[in-house]
Amino acid sequence: MGKEVKHDQKLRMEMSQGSKERFHWQSHNVKQSGVDDMVLLPQITEDAIVGNLRKRFMDDYIFTYIGSVLISVNPFKQMPYFTEREIDLYQGAAQYENPPHIYALTDNMYRNMLIDCENQCVIISGESGAGKTVAAKYIMGYISKVSGGGEKVQHVKDIILQSNPLLEAFGNAKTVRNNNSSRFGKYFEIQFSRGGEPDGGKISNFLLEKSRVVMQNENERNFHIYYQLLEGASQEQRQNLGLMTPDYYYYLNQSDTYKVDGTDDRSDFSETLSAMQVIGIPPNIQQLVLQLVAGILHLGNISFCEDGNYARVESVDLLAFPAYLLGIDSGRLQEKLTSRKMDSRWGGRSESIDVTLNVEQAAYTRDALAKGLYSRLFDFLVEASGAGCSGGQGGLGPAN
Ligand SMILES: Nc1ncnc2c1ncn2[C@@H]1O[C@H](COP(=O)(O)OP(=O)(O)OP(=O)(O)O)[C@@H](O)[C@H]1O
Ligand SMILES: [Mg+2]
Repeated sequence: MGKEVKHDQKLRMEMSQGSKERFHWQSHNVKQSGVDDMVLLPQITEDAIVGNLRKRFMDDYIFTYIGSVLISVNPFKQMPYFTEREIDLYQGAAQYENPPHIYALTDNMYRNMLIDCENQCVIISGESGAGKTVAAKYIMGYISKVSGGGEKVQHVKDIILQSNPLLEAFGNAKTVRNNNSSRFGKYFEIQFSRGGEPDGGKISNFLLEKSRVVMQNENERNFHIYYQLLEGASQEQRQNLGLMTPDYYYYLNQSDTYKVDGTDDRSDFSETLSAMQVIGIPPNIQQLVLQLVAGILHLGNISFCEDGNYARVESVDLLAFPAYLLGIDSGRLQEKLTSRKMDSRWGGRSESIDVTLNVEQAAYTRDALAKGLYSRLFDFLVEASGAGCSGGQGGLGPAN
């Protein structure tokens, strides 16, 4: 009997732990670790700051304030405090009521926007692998959860959230510092209605690391999409796009690194495809996107040899497939890779002459073409994500 009572009490306690009241600021048994806000440190020295962060980190607290600035330490493991319960807890609460959290910062920003009718901006900065991209996703996830809205708003939210896997597939890569390093700058703008519902968005990208398309350092990979396509493509796609194993392609085999721990390229590929779907890229265009990706890979396998100081395509057979995938004539491709047009003006006359390239110049031209194609493809995807957000009507365009 006594046992049963104990059991019952335990159950009740668990239930009350799950409720909002128990964990709101009235609860006084939240464990303290160091100081929540470093303006409270008795001494502001680098040692004291690092010591406080370390202490908190050891106790699994990754967030600490310095006034209104939030510091976040990468835990490299899933923390338990990113659930619905926390979303509930931080909504409408003041900063001092709960332990420091990215949700608190986001909520504060969201409320300020609604109350003051003023644009808000979060700046996330830190070294590679610090957790900026993950933090940005938590912010978007939180806003998506707390802002209401009907079907159309849900659609905008879906696009905002789905633009992440899509742009990461094409813009992120494994580096020695981060297995999912963002290799482009992103400025994401979400527009809200007066009621606080997201009704549009705009994404600008800048500085995509184009050199990665044609060359990677040791232990690094090209952009994820290449490995996703090679792992996840259907039998039919393999056939149509001439897909082989990654070590077959010059643009992938230079670093001899193909797999990333904890990444499943195959399932990420289906996520990329469904993201394209949600964003509103029609299936035939999706196919073209993949065709371009494969075309760039095949383009990279065109090599050149020396022929009397001029470059000659080593194996003409290798021209046909990339030309087909890129929708261009293979003769023209060969011509463009091994020569360039030069316009000369003499008096009122202008003359155009073909200058033949040497091997080095030809390889450089091939790589420039690959980089140009890839970066335009990336721009297209960024634009498509933005257009999806604004429902393609342009009315919700840039808020500037
Ligand atoms: N809050 C977190 N919880 C759990 N893991 C995290 C968290 N933040 C980051 N990580 C881990 O660290 C990795 C790197 O983080 P992230 O990609 O956000 O870095 P970044 O600052 O965007 O780096 P880069 O400048 O290279 O893009 C993530 O893939 C994830 O595994
Ligand atoms: Mg990043």
